[in-house]
Amino acid sequence: MKMIDNGNELPKVTNTSDLDMPESSPNLPRRRFLAWGIYGIGAVVTMVLTILSVGYFIAPVVGAASELEVPVGEVTEFNNLNVPKAIELNYQFTDSFKQITGTAQIYVAALRKGANTAEDFKIFSPICTHLGCMVPWVEAENQFHCPCHGSTFTAEGVVTKGPASRNFDQYKLAIKDGKLVINPLQTFTV
Ligand code: FES
Repeated sequence: MKMIDNGNELPKVTNTSDLDMPESSPNLPRRRFLAWGIYGIGAVVTMVLTILSVGYFIAPVVGAASELEVPVGEVTEFNNLNVPKAIELNYQFTDSFKQITGTAQIYVAALRKGANTAEDFKIFSPICTHLGCMVPWVEAENQFHCPCHGSTFTAEGVVTKGPASRNFDQYKLAIKDGKLVINPLQTFTV
């Protein structure tokens, strides 16, 4: 039968796949299955991309960097120090995607003669806690003396004169296989 609209003959529909299937169509389960398959693939792709993104930004910080252990030297090299010893500590590690290298200027101080436990040592950064100048050990004064604004620190890194208002930042240290080890990326203040 011909269909008429406003006097014009409508085109005859021959391909029923362009029309919505009725709820009772035998093809409906297959179409629903395909739709859910597409949603599932999309969800999996989203999840994988999210995991990779989190890994990229977080892993270098909480993974390799936080677990870094760099040997400073043999305990016997430091256990009878009279004055703090300057060390230039080179380190490198690999995070998820690249090789990181760095250098830390540190001082090792022995708190007693014959020091042989982690508690017998202090390792600290000689960066002034006022405005960040590098502070040298001044042998003639028997103290660290900041060349910028005059702050002074004891041999163990304790501030004795301002304008610096806090001690040098310290590194958490451990003794492993007879060596002092630190993570040069992590400091704490006391
Ligand atoms: S930076 Fe050391 S006293 Fe100011």
